Amino acid sequence: QQKKRVFSGVQPTGKLHIGNYVGAISQWAENQDAYDNIFCVVDLHAITIPEAIEPKAFRAKCLEVAALYIACGIDPAKSTIFMQSHVPEHSELSWLLNCVTPLGWLYRMTQFKAKSGGSESVGTGLLDYPVLMAADILLYDTHFVPVGDDQKQHIEFTRDLAQRINTMFNAGLVIPEAQIRASGARVMGLDDPESKMSKSTGEQKKGHSIGILDEPNVIKKAIMSATTDCENEARFDHCGPGVKNLLTLYEVMSKQPREQIEAEFHGQGYGKLKKALVELTVEHLRPVRERYADLMNNQDHLHDVLKTGADRARAIAGTTVTRVRDGMGF
Ligand code: ADP
Ligand code: NA
Repeated sequence: QQKKRVFSGVQPTGKLHIGNYVGAISQWAENQDAYDNIFCVVDLHAITIPEAIEPKAFRAKCLEVAALYIACGIDPAKSTIFMQSHVPEHSELSWLLNCVTPLGWLYRMTQFKAKSGGSESVGTGLLDYPVLMAADILLYDTHFVPVGDDQKQHIEFTRDLAQRINTMFNAGLVIPEAQIRASGARVMGLDDPESKMSKSTGEQKKGHSIGILDEPNVIKKAIMSATTDCENEARFDHCGPGVKNLLTLYEVMSKQPREQIEAEFHGQGYGKLKKALVELTVEHLRPVRERYADLMNNQDHLHDVLKTGADRARAIAGTTVTRVRDGMGF
């Protein structure tokens, strides 16, 4: 019995945060042995926000994300790690898919609406983002896509598109499923618990996010100044969104049952919860930061990992593109 295939990725933009870690990367690492894993640094996605891109910084950011995957526990001996742009089949399949994707499907995507803000001067790539994402996933006959809650709609889109291609061209694409954590799939901003913690905001605003690579004193400041409500409730289903966010982070990192966490912090004042979360987060991220520093001291090794990863990814992706091309009559 062959292992099921997992594919996922993170965009090399902004400041990677605990939401990316909890919602995505930690899940990849935890389930690594159960699946045949492919983890991609999705650099072609990153350029859909061209303002964010300055060539030198971009190159460094791409390598940073690859190093972070490994530092967070992805083992290159078990999982394939590669840079999206090193495998040209992503661009090729995405064009083939583009030509049969109804424009209306793309206009419905909430991420596009939010990121474009209704402006028509944004790059076409921003609208087209879900097609490239569908190509990423479908290229590898992916069964499961472990992602945060914000990507749900894009996975639904990918499933619909795969079904459409299979019906039109008998391409035999595997229909993927999202894998979304029951708790921690949508970490909220510490400064604004009404909106999702995000990389771009975290880069601009102190106190918005906890960076995966933040120093202990920065983590402490962010958590201690997190927005909470004035009640003293520390129960998951009875508190405001700011406290729920802190409780959820505590839950995911401590792996304790909710009842135990509530028993510990309910009616105590939020200072106690915040201090405990600072300690837990600092200890949790310390080894990641240390491994990251080691990896950045030996970048040749990182480049080797990415080369090996791209070679393996390309071999798989090539067969899928051939299937779709054949189906279309090329
Ligand atoms: P961002 O949205 O922060 O720019 P990406 O779009 O690169 O990050 O997403 C990388 C992964 O992290 C995706 O699986 C996404 O769903 C997940 N993710 C992003 N933000 C959060 C969050 N606040 N909580 C949980 N998961 C998140
Ligand atoms: Na996102």
